[in-house]
Amino acid sequence: MLNKSPLILRMALLLLQVFSTDAKMDIITSKQDFKVGEEILLLCKAGGEGDITWLKGGDEVDDEEIVQKVDETSSKLVIKKASLEDAGRYTCKCDYDNGHQDDTQVTLYVYEGPSFGSTTTYHEFLEGTDGNVPCLVTGKPAVDVQWFRDKQEIPSSGHSHLRKMPDNTLHIGKVRREDAGMYVCHAQIRGRPISNQLHVSIVVNAPPTVHLREEVQKVIAGPETNVTLLCLVDGLPKPSINWSLPVTFDLSRHHFNSDRSQLILNSVVRADFGEYICTAINKIAEDSATFTLHVFEAPEVFVSADQHHVSVGESVSVSCNVSGYPEPELHWLNKQKGQTLDMTSGRVRVVEGVLEIDDMMPSDGGLYSCMAVSSSGNASRDVAIYSKFVCHLFWRIKKKSLWHFKHF
Ligand SMILES: *[C@@H]1O[C@H](CO)[C@@H](O)[C@H](O)[C@H]1NC(C)=O
Ligand SMILES: *[C@@H]1O[C@H](CO)[C@@H](O)[C@H](O)[C@H]1NC(C)=O
Ligand SMILES: *[C@@H]1O[C@H](CO)[C@@H](O)[C@H](O)[C@H]1NC(C)=O
Ligand SMILES: *[C@@H]1O[C@H](CO)[C@@H](O)[C@H](O)[C@H]1NC(C)=O
Repeated sequence: MLNKSPLILRMALLLLQVFSTDAKMDIITSKQDFKVGEEILLLCKAGGEGDITWLKGGDEVDDEEIVQKVDETSSKLVIKKASLEDAGRYTCKCDYDNGHQDDTQVTLYVYEGPSFGSTTTYHEFLEGTDGNVPCLVTGKPAVDVQWFRDKQEIPSSGHSHLRKMPDNTLHIGKVRREDAGMYVCHAQIRGRPISNQLHVSIVVNAPPTVHLREEVQKVIAGPETNVTLLCLVDGLPKPSINWSLPVTFDLSRHHFNSDRSQLILNSVVRADFGEYICTAINKIAEDSATFTLHVFEAPEVFVSADQHHVSVGESVSVSCNVSGYPEPELHWLNKQKGQTLDMTSGRVRVVEGVLEIDDMMPSDGGLYSCMAVSSSGNASRDVAIYSKFVCHLFWRIKKKSLWHFKHF
């Protein structure tokens, strides 16, 4: 349709010329470039009646299949299936009946292609390696190739990291992430407005890398203690993240954010200690990093009873348990006297955490404290030991009789 309007215009012009006095010759053709196999049709209009002949190069074309007389003022040249050899300069010559002679010429081009055959249109490269993207073009008589990215031509010389090589391959030196995208291989029949283009997409891959915001964290266990482990992952395609936990995943306390880059531990317990491994995997490779969580427990103290009423002369033992991490040291304290009880034998002693008092004396009565001391903190529980006054008399009698015993 686009080619037809200039044709109509030219025909109209020609008609005008036919009726003008200074009539000229013209060759009418829809176009100058013909694909191999297409039909070529040239119509020669002479300014008046005469004998029209066609020449290609310098030789007359006299094949009746090709040259056909239309009427006394026009002749046509028809090539059913154009071949590359049909390209050239065509002359239409007229020997007018009045003895005058005139001619006119047109140059025709016959082409094949350009086509890209089996050129690959999708490439994946590893970041940092060199990438070569071939553009396998065929076409005749000759084809010029250009590479474009975002409508910008890629140079074929210089030191640009994107370069067109002499064999039309696009060379990418040390592929970067921003090299990913769509490229165009543009092929044109040399010097003619006949071209074709191929879109080639390039994908850049990068192996995963993993970084942790912190590699070690120390926390104290407790319902209010939350820990967020952040795994910073890089790689192309975007790696998937996998965690390995020292404990079995517990939905009530452990959860992930949507891309699993964050592992959140709520209400950390002592059992949560250990190594957390964040692994990032994509189709290229995998990488991992290890986070170590140290969980301390604040000390706690348990005593068998916090009040004891002991008759004078009797024995009493108060057991005390401590817990925590690291395991706390246990100390018994006489708060009244402000002294630590560290004797393991004797009337008042501490044996494996148990406070033992033999032969209770009124002065033993008072406030004691079992203490847990650790690097995670201190804790204590007070124990009140009362000596029973009602037994005071009994004690004196007993004591007296002992005194008597000694003197006999
Ligand atoms: C720990 O997480 C829980 C649940 O998300 C929240 O209720 C609590 O306030 C957090 N505690 C602290 C100290 O941030
Ligand atoms: C990690 O992912 C693989 C599959 O992608 C799965 O088989 C494995 O159980 C995962 N490991 C952990 C600790 O979630
Ligand atoms: C000491 O601890 C053990 C185990 O934790 C417990 O069974 C025992 O009752 C505790 N004793 C006291 C006096 O709290
Ligand atoms: C814990 O007790 C130890 C020994 O009695 C003392 O030296 C230390 O300062 C105490 N620490 C705290 C945090 O109270």
